[in-house]
Amino acid sequence: MKNIEIAVIPGDGIGKEVVPFGVKALELAAEIHGGLSFKMQEFPWSCEYYVEHGRMMPENGIDILKNFEAIFLGAVGLPKTVPDHVSLWGLLIAIRREMKQYINLRPVKQMRGVRSPLADPKGFDILVVRENAEGEYSPIGGRMIAGNDEIVVQNAVFTRSGTERAIRFAFEAAGKRDRKFVTSATKSNGIIHSMPFWDEVFGQVGREFPEIQQTSTHIDALSAFFVTKPQTLDVVVASNLFGDILTDLGAGIMGSIGIAPSANINPDRKYPSMFEPVHGSAPDIYGKGIANPVGQMWTAKMMLDFFGFEDVGQLLLDSIEDTMEAGIITPDLGGKASTTEVGEAILTKFKERG
Ligand code: NAI
Ligand code: MG
Repeated sequence: MKNIEIAVIPGDGIGKEVVPFGVKALELAAEIHGGLSFKMQEFPWSCEYYVEHGRMMPENGIDILKNFEAIFLGAVGLPKTVPDHVSLWGLLIAIRREMKQYINLRPVKQMRGVRSPLADPKGFDILVVRENAEGEYSPIGGRMIAGNDEIVVQNAVFTRSGTERAIRFAFEAAGKRDRKFVTSATKSNGIIHSMPFWDEVFGQVGREFPEIQQTSTHIDALSAFFVTKPQTLDVVVASNLFGDILTDLGAGIMGSIGIAPSANINPDRKYPSMFEPVHGSAPDIYGKGIANPVGQMWTAKMMLDFFGFEDVGQLLLDSIEDTMEAGIITPDLGGKASTTEVGEAILTKFKERG
């Protein structure tokens, strides 16, 4: 019997509406599998918590989380109340960095029952491996001389070890897939220090994987390929910022940001990994009961995969696709169903399949 201890952080906005369905999916997965159980503890860390306590989580928040094997997060952000850079750096980015979650995995896949906005999507199935701990998201820099002569500097940070481990992870992930093809996102024609370095490391690590097809593509062209020929891509490895932008584009071609999942992975398993949908707290629809729970529930599947329960994870993903194919979809996908109707329908299917 495998027992997994999970910290659940619903966070803000629709995070609070969709997390309960992700939690129910995990509980049902344990029931179906039989040899698996979850011990979950919920934490109210969020912008509301900030308003009360002046911080996004307690001072020892990171230490508390270190006692868990995984973190299941909804979304963070309440931009009218707390500035985004405060809420994101105070919780999400703090967790990603302190827990050495240096890989962000984001599948971009054409799903049954979802109309891609692409005219001819041809069954694309991409895995984006995003570097998650350094790169362009750096606190280094500053502003000086207020007024018309103001100067602003923002430094990107690329370490050899950080770059290597992200690229190696991508090659290893490609080795487990059918197509065995890695595309590296670069911009070495415009960003003349960090990106030629990135390409160099890609070449060096790539030589360890001769069985894997490999190519580098400039991020601007690659963005166009996500739209014009996504079916030609398999694993895509990208720096923090490039990966962030590409995966929202990925969510776009999938049909809605509301269905896209992600996993912040500490591959060494020394610290908990964190599983969260790609979308944010969506204040524009919060409280209406129409948030799509699919992203959060597919995120639960990624957690099952991470712990080696791929079989039951696949049943969950199949149940999600069955439900969407039956037309039980929220308004972001063109449907009329509520969060609860979609969530419950997926759980019912999952029970039937299990
Ligand atoms: P967002 O992802 O919250 O919303 C973008 C658009 O997609 C909105 O129109 C929203 O209604 C829609 N949408 C998002 N998720 C949906 C779902 N599950 N079902 C149906 N529609 C959905 O991004 P936005 O508006 O840029 O950010 C809102 C807040 O969330 C900000 O405070 C931002 O910083 C935060 N944020 C947090 C993230 C996280 O916790 N990982 C990621 C992205 C944004
Ligand atoms: Mg993003």
